[in-house]
Amino acid sequence: MTTLPGDKYRLGEVVDRWSRGQALRQQAYGAASEKMLDLANVQVGSRVLDVAAGTGEQTLLAARRAGPSAYVLATDISAAMLNVAAEAARKEGLANVETRIMNAENLALDADSFDAVICRNALMLFPDPAKALTEMRRVVRPASKVAVMVFSAEERNPHHGIPFAIIRRLGNIPPPAPGEPWMYALGDPGALEDVYSRAGFLNVSVHAVPIQRRLPSAADVIRSMRNSASDVSELMSRLNDAERELAWAEIEQQLRQFEGPNGFEAPGEVLIGVGTK
Ligand SMILES: C[S@@+](CC[C@H](N)C(=O)[O-])C[C@H]1O[C@@H](n2cnc3c(N)ncnc32)[C@H](O)[C@@H]1O
Repeated sequence: MTTLPGDKYRLGEVVDRWSRGQALRQQAYGAASEKMLDLANVQVGSRVLDVAAGTGEQTLLAARRAGPSAYVLATDISAAMLNVAAEAARKEGLANVETRIMNAENLALDADSFDAVICRNALMLFPDPAKALTEMRRVVRPASKVAVMVFSAEERNPHHGIPFAIIRRLGNIPPPAPGEPWMYALGDPGALEDVYSRAGFLNVSVHAVPIQRRLPSAADVIRSMRNSASDVSELMSRLNDAERELAWAEIEQQLRQFEGPNGFEAPGEVLIGVGTK
């Protein structure tokens, strides 16, 4: 059976590691996530669907914005990820949030039943992104919007691009084939626009949004990558012990180029696609 990159989030150990990265994700993606909510037209009282919500960070942003009269449904294929999201909503007293296990490519939800749909950093991991977007289009109300955030190209995200290039070179690992689901599979604005059009959306646009990765030092970046559920540490697991140590050392050395008076600051970019039903 082929393993998809999105499958690892069902494992408790991965979910623990993923949860540790929450503050860093909020720092990197917080502002872009607000823009995704703007583009999806999430407003006070909106009924919002969050697809592949994971541990629910953007679910909570939507729930805070939409307020107590709203309803926000967080769906994901991983029960373990959703448990973290549900607990976070409970702790914050957000009674307007519900979680349900669901495959993004087959949403067990009524047609025309949401005012807005969002999906953050997940569409590129699905085997058939157009099928998932077609489902999102089906469940949103006519004239409403679906906004999706994905990573832009690998070279525009050197914080990951540099480690990936080093690991691939040392391990003689080829880059993913075109069409294969992975972190940067929809990193070309034309590719994201094409998926939206194939899913039948109107008024499709794709917005490139800069992000910043900030940590005290390059050594902290390495520590964080080693301890979190990062795709870098996953690719690293394909190297032997000796190659791995070489790779971490070279990655740290190359990432030091982003160290300055304010610590480590690397530029990055996400794409936010939006379309109207
Ligand atoms: C990189 S995480 C992003 C989580 C969250 N949206 C965020 O931005 O923090 C990807 C998520 O996609 C989920 N996922 C992967 N394949 C899926 C599928 N076919 N249907 C629904 N969720 C899926 C994973 O379980 C995981 O929670």
